[in-house]
Amino acid sequence: MCGIVGYIGRQNAFPILTKGLHRLEYRGYDSAGVALLNQENELNIYKVKGRVSDLELFCEGKDISGHAGIAHTRWATHGEPNQANAHPHYSQSESLALIHNGIIENYTVLKTGLMQKGYTFQSETDTEVLVQLIEYIKTGNNVDIITAVRLALKQVVGAYAIAIIERQNPEFIIVARKSSPLVVGIGKDEFFIASDASPIIDHTDKVIYLEDEEIAVIHRDKAPQVLSLANVEKTPQTIQLEVSLSELEKGEYPHFMLKEIFEQPQTLRDCMRGRVNIDCNNLTLSGIIDHKERFLKARRIIILACGTSWHAGLIGEYLLEEFCRIPVEVEYSSEFRYRNPVIYPDDIVIAISQSGETADTLAAIELAKKAGAFVYGICNVVGSSIPRNTNSGSYTHVGVEIGVASTKAFTAQVLVLIMMAINIGKEKNTIPNEQYEHILSELNQIPEKIEAILEQNIIIEDLSKTFTYAHNFIYMGRGYSYPIAMEGALKLKEISYIHAEGYPAAEMKHGPIALIDQDMPVIVIATHDGTYEKMISNIQEIKARNGRILAIVNQSDNKVKNIADYVIEIPNTAECLSPLLSIIPLQLLSYHIAVKKGRDVDMPRNLAKSVTVE
Ligand code: F6R
Repeated sequence: MCGIVGYIGRQNAFPILTKGLHRLEYRGYDSAGVALLNQENELNIYKVKGRVSDLELFCEGKDISGHAGIAHTRWATHGEPNQANAHPHYSQSESLALIHNGIIENYTVLKTGLMQKGYTFQSETDTEVLVQLIEYIKTGNNVDIITAVRLALKQVVGAYAIAIIERQNPEFIIVARKSSPLVVGIGKDEFFIASDASPIIDHTDKVIYLEDEEIAVIHRDKAPQVLSLANVEKTPQTIQLEVSLSELEKGEYPHFMLKEIFEQPQTLRDCMRGRVNIDCNNLTLSGIIDHKERFLKARRIIILACGTSWHAGLIGEYLLEEFCRIPVEVEYSSEFRYRNPVIYPDDIVIAISQSGETADTLAAIELAKKAGAFVYGICNVVGSSIPRNTNSGSYTHVGVEIGVASTKAFTAQVLVLIMMAINIGKEKNTIPNEQYEHILSELNQIPEKIEAILEQNIIIEDLSKTFTYAHNFIYMGRGYSYPIAMEGALKLKEISYIHAEGYPAAEMKHGPIALIDQDMPVIVIATHDGTYEKMISNIQEIKARNGRILAIVNQSDNKVKNIADYVIEIPNTAECLSPLLSIIPLQLLSYHIAVKKGRDVDMPRNLAKSVTVE
């Protein structure tokens, strides 16, 4: 989704800003722009439809001097992706330039009011309305720019992270946020602004995260001044980032997605570190133990998430019901927030989000908190909004995930849910000791088993050629493999643009089986578990209708292998851990099909990494 970068200091701003925009490309965007304040106090804006590299080309031969500037990548919400709608936007007098992430919901009313006062607009965006409003308040009320920004934001309904630069005030940039992240990097006599930490890591590891409804004035050579919308001075907390630059580079891999798939043995080890102690047969999540009574008393668990994280949540439902005997409901955050749900004060809400910034999940959390529920976050991005707005939680610790299609974050979310379920189950005595110890010992072997699956990468790449013809895919699974069928299908559609659906295998007979013919690839997850024999019947039903079957089976399998057209073998493990293994070949298969089809795997069309608008 949209990305913000800003710089004020003594260096040339342009290369810092464009490098920052490149770092944000993974978020997804359709246009890019930059505003630079030069030594003559001219405020130059350059913007293009397309990539950051198109912006760099467009700026060749133009005045790109200046030691202060703001830059943006836009993911269209209001108005099509074109040059006019790209940010930054000038105010009417061209003395202000503004960039914005989020949505101004009441922009039509504000725009009508401004038009009646003689303001004209160059774009269809809500952002241009905001910059005009700020200028109108500044000139109409004869106040300084900081006051004008504050007063304008008080009139705004919606979500925003903004950065504003003013021609007459080259000594500072103003930023503000509400429901959309904004980070300020602190250098020596220079400051960096960004919508996430990735453009800042190149320059400094000291940052301030702005809180909701805060405005910060970022001066060239003094500490940022932070104010609330009510004009109360705040003392910001400086945080040390723990991200290494290598996490932001592809290294030897052609795509971030492939790199991140291959990182999974290590990311799962990192996620277990300090939590699973195999020598003592013990597993502890501090976020659970610190609030043990709450979990022991819980009448119900509600899991809130979107997309891939929602699929992890479905696996969580199976795990928590099996091992903790607590009823679980899994909800799309976007539906939950608008449907007047019943929430009890003794409910536990688990919010799952890689980015920690998903707008719908944040809003759903607010609703749950207002009803008195205890909210537990499972997030990857340290310091992001969800961990800061929940009562407790666990980080997934997989490092930065750049590929838009989530891979290593998903497996770590599932792992955290496994650890939660067996930790709570142990505390509640709802998991037998023998099973607890067996799962722990199997868990310890998961990274190695994933390594063994990754060794089949070339075989899976070869197999992918067989399927590039298809326009539709069906994925089937039962039990713990049903959410994996849905996740496998989502991975394929996201990056290859092939239509794919994941079904619980027994549901096929109730409709979808009508789709099966010799052209329909059917991916079945048929590992050894409680429904294995049932799954075989479902596979035979597909075979009887000439479907082309690719089966994910265990190494010990001797039945499905004889029916399926193609098989990929994965090691055996405890049933509840099987999602951690069965998803790996499906990630690789989607990746290779998308590459064969020439898709932009890391930045698929229309998608954004962090969905900060609803
Ligand atoms: C798919 C994918 C998305 C996200 C969804 C929620 O590969 O990444 O479906 O899972 O947008 O995002 P988070 O987890 O950041 O809340």
